[in-house]
This record gives sequence, structure tokens and C-alpha cells, in this order.
Amino acid sequence: MATFVPATDRRVRSPHLPFGDRRETPYYGMDILSVLQFRREDLEYIFGVAKEMRSMVERVGTFDLLKGKILANLFYEPSTRTSSSFLAAMERMGGSVIPINEVTYSSVAKGESLPDTIRTLQAYADVIVLRHPEVGSAQLAAQYASKPIINAGDGVGEHPTQALLDLFTIEEELGRVDGLTVTMLGDLKYGRTVHSLARLLASFEVRINYVSPEILPMPEEVVGELEHRGIPQARAASLEAVLPETDVLYVTRVQKERFQDLEQYEQVKGAYVITPETLRRAKDEMIVMHPFPRVGEISTEVDADPRAAYFRQMEYGLYVRMALLAMVLGKA
Ligand code: NCD
Repeated sequence: MATFVPATDRRVRSPHLPFGDRRETPYYGMDILSVLQFRREDLEYIFGVAKEMRSMVERVGTFDLLKGKILANLFYEPSTRTSSSFLAAMERMGGSVIPINEVTYSSVAKGESLPDTIRTLQAYADVIVLRHPEVGSAQLAAQYASKPIINAGDGVGEHPTQALLDLFTIEEELGRVDGLTVTMLGDLKYGRTVHSLARLLASFEVRINYVSPEILPMPEEVVGELEHRGIPQARAASLEAVLPETDVLYVTRVQKERFQDLEQYEQVKGAYVITPETLRRAKDEMIVMHPFPRVGEISTEVDADPRAAYFRQMEYGLYVRMALLAMVLGKA
């Protein structure tokens, strides 16, 4: 599959379509590698399909839209939500999954290269979800695959499906995205979810605040891109300074596995902890999000606060991933 398929130039790769697949659907066969592929009209479309998926799940639980379709879920890094929500998404639509969650038990442990693994799986599956520790791995996989590749996290690069579900969460919870102030907190350097979310938010009229330990700032590359797109951004010295104006507080975990020097990790790991006390200075109508796992950044006492949206966020993820799978498989 070609490396990058911009929304305006979606190509249909396979001349041989399985019976019932509609080639004319605009997203058929598309890779999902970066949020930069999506414009506002794409987002509206995805979220429209996600809402339909939600109502189908509420009404009938499972249905046959992807009956006979197979997903290869290839995870070179740990995952709970991403892998299981893709699996649930596939099964809710009647499809099935080849789960390769623990690459230590696959030929990867024997030294098989990513291209060879991808070529193998595409012979068995209709779509491949890939999480891999290296930036650009999803792009690389897409070069070798004639089936769609969905990037489920490429190292510190991007996590586009997470950003899509994050944006869907914001829209569903607050009713809009334009006009909001989003504050990103925590490990902004290594956190791929915030890299993707910031880029996706740049299609809207938002203000973004960054609050992080000094050694974990939002990468210059991302800040530069957003600046170029006219997004007001500010590095805040403390959360206190920006919390009262915040509509979305997006909290992240310090990404321990990305540190060369674990002593450095120890110094910053407990830098921020959100407690009910913290939220006293926040708006009544705002939300707290987190891609999870949390390792102490949000105290469990916050869970009972209606503004804590992170468990609802996980559920939105199911509907968005159902929508994306149905779209790239030509069924939506
Ligand atoms: C995130 C990830 O893997 O990047 N988790 C997720 O997909 N929900 C965030 C993290 O690991 O901190």
C-alpha cells in the first residue's frame, strides 16, 4: 500500500474487490498513518459513522457488517485499550481477529523483519493494526502492504486513532471544538497521543496550553506546525495559571519506557497529580481526559467527579474504531 494517502487523493489499490465491497466509498483501502490525512469534512464523516455505530451497539449489540473480514492486530508494545477496542470493534461487526499481542511468541522473536511480518499477515488478513516502538514504522509497513495499515502508535511519533477518539470525546462531551481552550499536561515530549491530538486540533479554532516538566516539552516540530497553521499556543509554567480558563484538561503519563536514563524519569515521574482539590479551581463545565494507563497522575478520587471523562473516552474509542474499520474495508 502506498505510504501516505491524503484525504483528497484516496486511491483504491486492489483491482479485485471481494463481493459486496463498494469501491466507490471514499475511504476504501486507505491507510491510517497520521492525523494529517484528515480534514474537517473527514472528521465529520468519521464521527457521523461512529454515532451510527454507537446506536447499533446500543440496539443490537453485534451485527454482520464485517462478516468474513479478518483483522491482524500486531502489537510490538504493550496495550490494553487500543488492542482490545480494535478486537471488540471487529467482533461487534461480525469480523474476526488474528491477535499478535505478544510478539515474543511469534516469529518476530526469531528476528523476523517488520516487512516480512507484514507481508505474511496481509496474506491472511484484510486490514492490519500495527503498534511498534519506532517512529515511521507504520509508514514502512504501508509500503509493503496491499491491505490497509492502521497506525496504533509508532514509538514517540503518532497515535492517530487515539486522537480521533479524543476529538470525538471532546465534541460529544462539550458539544463543540471551536472556541475551546485545551491544556495538555505531563509528558509532552514522548507522549504520542498529544502529538497527534495537537495536530488534529489545528483544524479548529482552539487555544492550546502546554504544561510539562522542563525536560519533557512539546516537540518544536509540532509547535512549529501549529504556529504555521495559526493556532495560539502557550507554554505555561504551572497548571494553576491556566486551569481556570481550561475547557479540556488532557493529562498524560510520563513515558518511562522512552527514557535512556531512569534517574531522570524518577525526577519527573510524580511532577503532576490531579486531585479533587486541583479541580476546585477548574470550570464547572470542563472535562478531564487521559489516554490511559494512568500511573498516579490522576488520583482515583477524581473518578467520581462528573468532569472526569476518561472512562467515557474509552467507550467513545470503540465506536470510532468501529467506524474506521468499516470505512477502510469499504462498508461505510
Ligand atoms: C497511550 C499510548 O500507547 O500511546 N495509550 C493508549 O493507546 N491509550 C498512552 C500511554 O501509553 O501513555
